[in-house]
Amino acid sequence: MTDTVTILGLESSCDDTAAAVVRHRPGAPPEILSSVVAGQTDLHAAFGGVVPEIAARAHTEKLDLCVEEALAEAGIELDGLDAIAVTAGPGLIGGVLAGVMLAKGLAAGTGLPLLGINHLAGHALTPRLTDGAAFPYLMLLVSGGHCQFLLVEGEDAFTRLGGTIDDAPGEAFDKTAKLLGLPQPGGPSVEAAAKAGDATRFKLPRPLLDRPGMDMSFSGLKTALLRERDKLVTRDGGLRQGARADLCAAFQAAVADVLAEKSRRALAAYLALEPATPVFAVAGGVSANMAIRAALETVAAEAGADFLAPPLALCTDNAAMIAWAGIERFRAGRRDDMTLAARPRWPLDDTAPAMLGSGKKGAKA
Ligand code: KG4
Ligand code: ZN
Repeated sequence: MTDTVTILGLESSCDDTAAAVVRHRPGAPPEILSSVVAGQTDLHAAFGGVVPEIAARAHTEKLDLCVEEALAEAGIELDGLDAIAVTAGPGLIGGVLAGVMLAKGLAAGTGLPLLGINHLAGHALTPRLTDGAAFPYLMLLVSGGHCQFLLVEGEDAFTRLGGTIDDAPGEAFDKTAKLLGLPQPGGPSVEAAAKAGDATRFKLPRPLLDRPGMDMSFSGLKTALLRERDKLVTRDGGLRQGARADLCAAFQAAVADVLAEKSRRALAAYLALEPATPVFAVAGGVSANMAIRAALETVAAEAGADFLAPPLALCTDNAAMIAWAGIERFRAGRRDDMTLAARPRWPLDDTAPAMLGSGKKGAKA
């Protein structure tokens, strides 16, 4: 581990097309030389969710442009790289294939090694890119497509302690916004509306808190909210602004309560390993929510763990995390070859039971 390693990462598993160059000199913090993300929100806006065929086509059109931009911004040519890392799953198969095919082409054309990265490993290893977190740490991945607690013990050693059995919280925020006539993405608009609301006026459930373990459920919460909304509409002939704010506040508080209590349990399981410096890290778009973030921070402090939330641009989908996971994989001596497959489902922890359902952003892993 004496050499500097520079890797190009590609990400196209959902609705963000991304390319990034990351460099690591042993003994120094990693450097993100460039991180280009081209979103597709506009393309899918009219459909109320990500349309896989549209996403795949957009990735194919934009990936090589993102790569050119990432290389130019990093001030590097292909021959200045040590390897090409690409998200090989889990995700929408058309998008993953677009990335894997481009990465194979680049690897074949340059002779550089190819590294297939699990998208979830990219998220899970981000605290090492941003803060040099030491193994083992506890990670809560909470976004529009994922929700799981991971014990991260090595670059390829993940234990899934629990996760959602239905919707991801971001998905629940998005559906809540839709039910209440607020704009997408729902997370920020529900959070903004909740600021003026009273979280105690409506009693929404805290699903699965009465059961042991770290699994979660968010689809019932949304149904309960729908029931309250319909009662209000019948009574008042529409949804008043105050009532909408109260519903948003109640929903957000319910999600925060569930995540906080399940995090408490996950932290207890993690602390049993007696880590030297306990770290509880979060990633994913929902970790941008201030109420949720504050609740998780409190739980971490009570357990005596450091709370780590990477900058938002590195919490949401990006290719710097894929390049970094590539560096970790490269340093561990792993290499893939032209037989690298694109995998729509690819759980990080093969021993964990398979998840039910398939979210709006593709397969839940
Ligand atoms: O990580 P991300 O950008 O994409 C994936 O899902 O992979 O997360 C997006 C999700 C959306 O569902 C969005 O509504 C949610 O994160 N989100 C939030 C907030 N900002 C984004 N949820 C709650 N509060 C927020 N402030
Ligand atoms: Zn993601």
